[in-house]
Amino acid sequence: MNINTLKNDFPFFKNNKLVYLDSGATAQKPQIVLDSMNEFHKSYCANIHRSAHGLGNKATQEYENARQTVSKFLNAKTKDEIVFTSGATQGINLVAYAYVKEHFKHVIISGLEHHSNIIPWQIIDKSLHVIDFKKDLHVDLEHFESLLKSYPNSFVSLVETSNTFGITHPIKEMIQLARKYGSKVLVDAAQSSVHSAIDVQDLDADFLVLSAHKLYGPTGIGALYIKKDLHEKCKAFQGGGGAIKEVTYEKTVYMPIPYMYEAGTQHIAGAIGFASALEYIRNIGFNLIQKHEQELIAYTNEKLLHVKNLIRYTDTKNATGNISFNIKGIHHYDLGVLLDKQGVQIRVGHHCVQPTMKSLGIKGTVRISFGLYNTKEDIDKFFYALERSIKMLED
Ligand SMILES: Cc1ncc(COP(=O)(O)O)c(C=O)c1O
Repeated sequence: MNINTLKNDFPFFKNNKLVYLDSGATAQKPQIVLDSMNEFHKSYCANIHRSAHGLGNKATQEYENARQTVSKFLNAKTKDEIVFTSGATQGINLVAYAYVKEHFKHVIISGLEHHSNIIPWQIIDKSLHVIDFKKDLHVDLEHFESLLKSYPNSFVSLVETSNTFGITHPIKEMIQLARKYGSKVLVDAAQSSVHSAIDVQDLDADFLVLSAHKLYGPTGIGALYIKKDLHEKCKAFQGGGGAIKEVTYEKTVYMPIPYMYEAGTQHIAGAIGFASALEYIRNIGFNLIQKHEQELIAYTNEKLLHVKNLIRYTDTKNATGNISFNIKGIHHYDLGVLLDKQGVQIRVGHHCVQPTMKSLGIKGTVRISFGLYNTKEDIDKFFYALERSIKMLED
């Protein structure tokens, strides 16, 4: 397989010459994902888990196959551990309401969390404790342990890879540490899952969230892994059709997880497209994906050395997927606008990590975010446009 020709799999790049470096926000979709969703709508569009007809059975089968594909992708023990959600955000909110609200007083998070892993804990009124990061933005494990000691049996919710700085937490080590103090752990794998293989059994995660649209799949669908041992402790979240065994005016008897959490008509085409995206990634393989990304990161780092007045926040050599920086004296937003005018899409701003930005005393950064379709040529075009933009803004 030639990774440099993978761009051809993505119809988005057929009709334009854009340099898309914003995959951390959402990735482009390969043709096979679009085809699988179209096929559902064209050939067997029906609701799931409720029809007596063949079409409904086919749709149900494909939807449940998609669950199996997600389960395999995460190496879950059984497919019942996989709940389809609308994305990582809904997954975290679900865990907050269905589990953490009743069982915990304290929630520990890292200093690099996306707003999606901060606000849900505030809504359910938990005491939030934030692990410090060191000068290089890597997590301070001693501080983590001191928080775990001070608040034993707390809930720990950690991003695996930072959407802004591409820093990857030593998540397995952190879960083991949390276990020593009786904590349960949620892993936000919205960013990390597209860069390396995840094995929930090896990690010993209790909960883990995914977002399909960052994995080359459709928007509006994601997955929540819930370890089987915890199913009994998780309460109903949203009520509605499909989630129940029996309803009377007095009470409702729910279906077991995952169905209890899939009330209402689900994003069936989304689940099918999600599974196609995971198959697409599996066919390429993480070895190749990582090798390619490391080459892109190394190449970018080399080029960054020549950018005048660059402000870096981490040692970007080991970044996973995302690199953030600023240029002294220039507002990141201005760079975003000028780069866009030259056909280069990057993200600028606070990247939904306002508290992290506040800790660093900044309002935002310029973020380059790689997908498997990016090439060194894209990076050359980015730096050419960046230099031009800086010149314009300095004039
Ligand atoms: C680390 C992280 N967590 C959570 C989310 C939220 O994902 P979604 O918007 O798909 O729910 C994002 C999205 O950018 C993210 O980067």
